[in-house]
Amino acid sequence: MSFLCRNAALLLKSSRAAPALLSASRLYSSGGQYEYILVEKRGDKNNVGFIQLNRPKALNALCDGLMKELGQALDAFEADKDVGAVVITGSERAFAAGADIKEMQNRTFQECYGGNFLAHWNRVSTVRKPVIAAVNGFALGGGCELAMMCDIIYAGEKAQFGQPEILLGTIPGAGGTQRLTRAVGKSLAMEMVLTGDRINAQEAKQSAYELTLAEGNRLEKRLFHSTFATDDRKEGMTAFVEKRKANFQDQ
Ligand code: CAA
Repeated sequence: MSFLCRNAALLLKSSRAAPALLSASRLYSSGGQYEYILVEKRGDKNNVGFIQLNRPKALNALCDGLMKELGQALDAFEADKDVGAVVITGSERAFAAGADIKEMQNRTFQECYGGNFLAHWNRVSTVRKPVIAAVNGFALGGGCELAMMCDIIYAGEKAQFGQPEILLGTIPGAGGTQRLTRAVGKSLAMEMVLTGDRINAQEAKQSAYELTLAEGNRLEKRLFHSTFATDDRKEGMTAFVEKRKANFQDQ
């Protein structure tokens, strides 16, 4: 995965300009209509699989339905011999503002651990064709992790990357602690994960750093699940939903 600071607006532009094409494209693949994503083939040779996350009111928060549809669209492009690469993008305001906090708010440790919560997100990183994230706006939490699962990130002027889970009383659960460390180095990754502070495209590019990916993802998933056993995780997400400041008790 590498950060490239380019004008993601170029990739986004035609999706704003061609609503008719996009609505027709929802029917791409045998699976029928998608609710949370727009899908089409683009390029002179129609060989680029284009997926746009489409929950604008929720800043493309990655609800379960969206991630399932994303997996289906990736499966379809993987199987399509005419497709050479895939682009995943959002809007100018948000690539994705993270996993859906409203969906997670009342989850228990047992549900997370027993159901291996978020395990299916990994599909993005196992696609054998090159996957490009075209990022503008918020790429936070699971949104940052989704971008980092892609092979290349093209980041626009308004891109903001961050892992703000600590502000919700939890930790990144989809590879953030591992991939961010490899993308920007341990020091900046720790600062971002421990403070929730964001970086822009320039800062991400300047900090680009590569290490090999190891078993850490598995450990991270277990630690992420275990935050669902704490009162503070519940309080953090409830406070977000109720639009108030979290009252953490350190338990
Ligand atoms: N989940 C669910 N809904 C979300 C969301 C999320 N991650 N992020 C934003 N939204 C919703 C808001 O609730 C709001 O909806 P309503 O109008 O219905 O209340 C709408 O999107 C717009 O959001 P804001 O009004 O908050 O917009 P803003 O411009 O004031 O702030 C923001 C934008 C800074 C991105 C802010 O929305 C925010 O902090 N979002 C949460 C970011 C976050 O914590 N992400 C990590 C999630 S946990 C995770 O991802 C775990 C993991 O590792 C997989």
